[in-house]
Amino acid sequence: SSNAAASGLTITITAGPTREPLDPVRYLSNHSSGKMGYALAAAAASRGARVRLISGPVALDTPPGVERIDVESAIEMCEAVRRAAADSDIFIGCAAVADYRAEQISEHKLKKTTDDDTLTLRLVKNPDIIAEIAACEPRPLMIGFAAETRDLETYARDKLIRKNLDMIVANDVGQAGLGFGAERNAALLLWREDQRRDGSSAPGRLELPAQSKATLAETIIDTALARFAARAPS
Ligand code: C5P
Repeated sequence: SSNAAASGLTITITAGPTREPLDPVRYLSNHSSGKMGYALAAAAASRGARVRLISGPVALDTPPGVERIDVESAIEMCEAVRRAAADSDIFIGCAAVADYRAEQISEHKLKKTTDDDTLTLRLVKNPDIIAEIAACEPRPLMIGFAAETRDLETYARDKLIRKNLDMIVANDVGQAGLGFGAERNAALLLWREDQRRDGSSAPGRLELPAQSKATLAETIIDTALARFAARAPS
């Protein structure tokens, strides 16, 4: 595809982990490196899109030509996404958003007590960012990620429908050397349907073997652009 395939389009991407504060010095988080989301942002920019990268805390440089918005918690990420979603043509939720946050953030550092060997934290559910944007009308073309350890295709296709997404990138996270923190990844792209020449339709599916996150990102962006074109013929 040409370098200008996405020219005139705005693509918003979430990447990295979120950080859920417990007190002024502690937080809950996960091992997301942000590499896949940053590779997607670089690929989208190379196709000529205006790219907004809403990023949790990661140790990565901003790809050239990408507008980066730094956030920490899921609530902050959700607010940044809400501000950006309205004028986005495509939204890609690649962030590993924490499912829960502390019900109360302690104003002062939590103290270790001498009389108790256990500490109980009460957690509350975070908003499902991608589901919230998918419910908006009009809405951008929505792409989500699904990390599974078994029955990849079944769970991912279920998530595609349940979360009302246009495409899902399914990762088998049980494979050594791929995914979280790694340089390489494999993926299965699923979308609702492909129009056949005879007018009938079949579920969309593209299997991408293990490769660098950079080349994987280019294929994901090109497939997303094709889905966008199929949705809004002009
Ligand atoms: O349900 P699950 O967490 O597996 O869904 C993964 C997809 O949903 C990813 O695209 C992720 O970025 C997005 N997500 C989100 N907000 C959440 C949880 C997940 O946007 N609170």
